[in-house]
Amino acid sequence: MKSILITGGAGFIGSHVVRLFVTKFPSYKIINLDVLTYAGNLENLSDIDKSPNYAFEKVNLLDVPELDRVFLEHGITDVIHLAAESHVDRSIEAPLDFVYTNIVGTVNLLNAAKKHWKEDLSKHLLYHVSTDEVYGALGATGFFTEETPYHPNSPYSASKASSDHFVRAYGETYDLPFVITNCSNNYGPYHFPEKLIPLFINNIIEKKPLPVYGDGLYTRDWLFVKDHARAIEVVFHKGKPGGTYNIGGFNEWRNIDLVKLLCKQMDEKLGNPAGTSDNLITYVKDRPGHDRRYAIDATKINKELGWEPSVTFEEGLSETIDWYLNNKKWLNNITSGDYQQYYNKMYHNR
Ligand code: NAD
Ligand code: TYD
Repeated sequence: MKSILITGGAGFIGSHVVRLFVTKFPSYKIINLDVLTYAGNLENLSDIDKSPNYAFEKVNLLDVPELDRVFLEHGITDVIHLAAESHVDRSIEAPLDFVYTNIVGTVNLLNAAKKHWKEDLSKHLLYHVSTDEVYGALGATGFFTEETPYHPNSPYSASKASSDHFVRAYGETYDLPFVITNCSNNYGPYHFPEKLIPLFINNIIEKKPLPVYGDGLYTRDWLFVKDHARAIEVVFHKGKPGGTYNIGGFNEWRNIDLVKLLCKQMDEKLGNPAGTSDNLITYVKDRPGHDRRYAIDATKINKELGWEPSVTFEEGLSETIDWYLNNKKWLNNITSGDYQQYYNKMYHNR
């Protein structure tokens, strides 16, 4: 019987992973460990949080005795580790928060797994979810492969790169069974409105400026979050232990082109005259150390495990906009800060 600890399950990607595992695998016990920072929102899971195979633990990765308790109490057999500080702009303001959670928190988790998984290590897996940003920036051509040397440029990507190295080192040094995936930029429902796409959807709804950094010609490779969750499921079950897989959609967009597509789709859905939202585009001061281009070569996961994205960007973006327009309460709760009350309401006795 699997008892899977999913860390960061109240966040954007984590909530999709928790939902997928809870609904698709009723025989697995899913334990969502999350300390609920500003980015953690239990409302993201309100549709499944009464499921008999789901449990929530409000625990900080920095709290070693509590991690021990969770491993013991739930008989954790596997880990899917998503909890992290995840926003580049915040890492520029407060790098140490990223060192603590992303590096020290990951090492604490590795130590807990090492301590509690004593017999038959082949029955266990620690799956570390990472980012393509560890590879640094690309020029106009080429792709990140699993062999690309790490070259992180922001405090966020440096902290994720370090955590990847620790996971690999625990595999080499202590035979801890692990797998790492490095994924490109995600988008979709439940994305916190500080990141480009949900921020701009919210600003278009509120008729606020759309702040495009620098010349707007930075390129990202966008993947629909449900396709990332599906990839995580495939790698969890079929990935080669000790391996790394890049996950991406072969879907590169320059920021300004993406923003113009978003404006067009929003104007159509809101019944605005064409060009209305384009008028909100405002070029602002660039982000320091801004990586010019990311692009993932996802051939390995496709060839070895048969995974590929299921939707085009236009379809995924349209579904995402519809979700935000139909869930204005969720968005309002975030922008007003009310979502932080949800935990007290639902788990008032802990
Ligand atoms: P997120 O910021 O939306 O969620 C992170 C979650 O981790 C939150 O629920 C937060 O409360 C929790 N958390 C933070 N610090 C914690 C701590 N000390 N202890 C316990 N819980 C803590 O992040 P996301 O965008 O869902 O990203 C999830 C993972 O995927 C991260 O590891 C990130 O590096 C990686 N990733 C993200 C993207 C992307 O585009 N968002 C792309 C590739 C990889
Ligand atoms: P972001 O969503 O923060 O993801 P990441 O930095 O992890 O790639 O940003 C995506 C791109 O959009 C990145 O090139 C920075 C740019 N950007 C803006 O131009 N304006 C904004 O307000 C934000 C948040 C991002």
